[in-house]
Amino acid sequence: MEFNRWFIIGAILILMVFESAAAGRVIFDFHLNTDLHNESTHHRLCKDLGYDGLAILSAPEAYAYALKITNHSRKVYGSGAYIGAHYRPEAGIVLWDDDTVPRSDTPFYSSPAPTDPNTPCSLLDIYNKIWMSSGVNPKLGLCGNHKIQITESIGVILPGELQASSKAVLSVSQASRHLQCVLRCSMILECRAAQFNSDLLTCTVIGEYTPPAGSSFPVSNQIFTYVRVTF
Ligand SMILES: *[C@@H]1O[C@H](CO)[C@@H](O)[C@H](O)[C@H]1NC(C)=O
Ligand SMILES: *[C@@H]1O[C@H](CO)[C@@H](O)[C@H](O)[C@H]1NC(C)=O
Repeated sequence: MEFNRWFIIGAILILMVFESAAAGRVIFDFHLNTDLHNESTHHRLCKDLGYDGLAILSAPEAYAYALKITNHSRKVYGSGAYIGAHYRPEAGIVLWDDDTVPRSDTPFYSSPAPTDPNTPCSLLDIYNKIWMSSGVNPKLGLCGNHKIQITESIGVILPGELQASSKAVLSVSQASRHLQCVLRCSMILECRAAQFNSDLLTCTVIGEYTPPAGSSFPVSNQIFTYVRVTF
C-alpha cells in the first residue's frame, strides 16, 4: 500500500514535468541565431537582441533544452552552435560566462575541459557534445539570458535509498515534504539526487556518486530518492 502511494506520487510528479513541457513553459530563455557567424559576431548579435550573451548550459536541464531547440539546425547545417563557456587564462580553466565552474559530467570531450589558449570558445557540436574551438569559423549561435533561477528540474522519484559505493553529501536539512526536497535539488547545480526521509523529515542533497556494480534499489517506506537527469 505504502509503496503504491509513493509510486503514485512519483507518477504525478513526472506527469507535472511532462505537462509543463507540453504547456510550453520554458525555464530557460534561449534563442538560436541560424545565420552562420564567428563567435564574437554571435556574441554581439545576442547582445543586440537583448540577451545577456551566449547561452549557458551549466544545468543538465539547460543542456537538454538546448539540444532540443538546436537539433534541427545543427543537423541541417552540419554545424555546431556557439555557447557561453570560455577558457579563462587568469583562472586556468574553462568557466561558464556567469563564472560558474562546469559540473564534472558536462559533456566536454574531456573532463575538465581542454585549456588551450588557441581554443577559448565553446560550441555545442553536431554530436551533441561541447567542443572547444578557436571561435573563428562561421557557426550557429545560441543566445541566452543568464540570470534565470532554476526552480524546476527533471528526474524520477523512486521509493528507496540511493545505493552508491561513494557519494558526496552536499547538504542535510529539515524538510516537511518530499517536494520541498525535490525543489532544493533543482536549485543546486551540483545536485544529482536528493533523498527525503519521512521519519526524520530530512532532505539530503547528493552531488557526485558512484553506483555500485549490479546495483539494486531496495524499496523503503520512509525514504524516497529523487534522481535528477544528468548530462
Ligand atoms: C534532429 O534533427 C534531425 C534532422 O532534422 C532529425 O532527423 C532527428 O529526428 C532529430 N532528433 C531529435 C531527437 O529531435
Ligand atoms: C568575426 O567576424 C567579423 C565580421 O566578419 C570580423 O570583423 C571579425 O574580425 C571576426 N573576428 C574573429 C575573431 O574572427
